[in-house]
Amino acid sequence: MRTSLPGFEPSPQKYSRMSSISVRPLEAKDSTAWAAMRAALWPEADAGDLQREADAFVAGDTLPTVTVAFIAVDDDRPIGFLDLSVRAYANGCDSMPVPFIEGWYVVSSARGLGVGRALIRAAEEWSRARRYAEIGSDTQIWNEDSLQAHQQCGFEETQRVIYLRKKLS
Ligand SMILES: CC(C)(COP(=O)(O)OP(=O)(O)OC[C@H]1O[C@@H](n2cnc3c(N)ncnc32)[C@H](O)[C@@H]1OP(=O)(O)O)[C@@H](O)C(=O)NCCC(=O)NCCS
Repeated sequence: MRTSLPGFEPSPQKYSRMSSISVRPLEAKDSTAWAAMRAALWPEADAGDLQREADAFVAGDTLPTVTVAFIAVDDDRPIGFLDLSVRAYANGCDSMPVPFIEGWYVVSSARGLGVGRALIRAAEEWSRARRYAEIGSDTQIWNEDSLQAHQQCGFEETQRVIYLRKKLS
């Protein structure tokens, strides 16, 4: 997974603590930064498609994988995001529909300082305010760092699954 993000890498020494960092809902002005961070999280995706998706979402279009997005900013400079959808069903969750974390990313120079946790907290507050009882998430089976970060933020592992498909000609 690519973790560096040209144009979004503030100097590490700036992050003495979280004083200048906050989390807010995505705004139209975040479109380019959000698309770039999503491209860094999903390098296999087409960057142009991600930018078009971001532009459409901030213009008010709906996306199947994003109900609400949160941006972590340092003095209004984007340094992380969390995409939350509301899935009809999610493996390992008891309730339906259920909020689900579709993307969670912090630029490498700002990791380990509580930014990811602040994004999770924003997703929790959004979900609690809408009377949801739980939040689902997933991670690749090899992504031990992500698993541990999830667990440190209060998530418990529920299932390991194998996805399959059969293409129909
Ligand atoms: C996962 C990610 C979003 C976490 O963001 P972050 O800002 O570093 O997280 P925080 O600093 O808020 O840490 C939250 C908790 O997780 C723990 N944690 C974070 N990264 C960890 C790691 N690599 N290993 C173990 N624990 C970790 C922290 O110690 C903290 O727990 P604590 O407060 O009890 O010490 C970030 O590391 C990232 O963007 N990773 C690459 C992309 C990715 O894998 N995203 C998840 C895809 S499902």
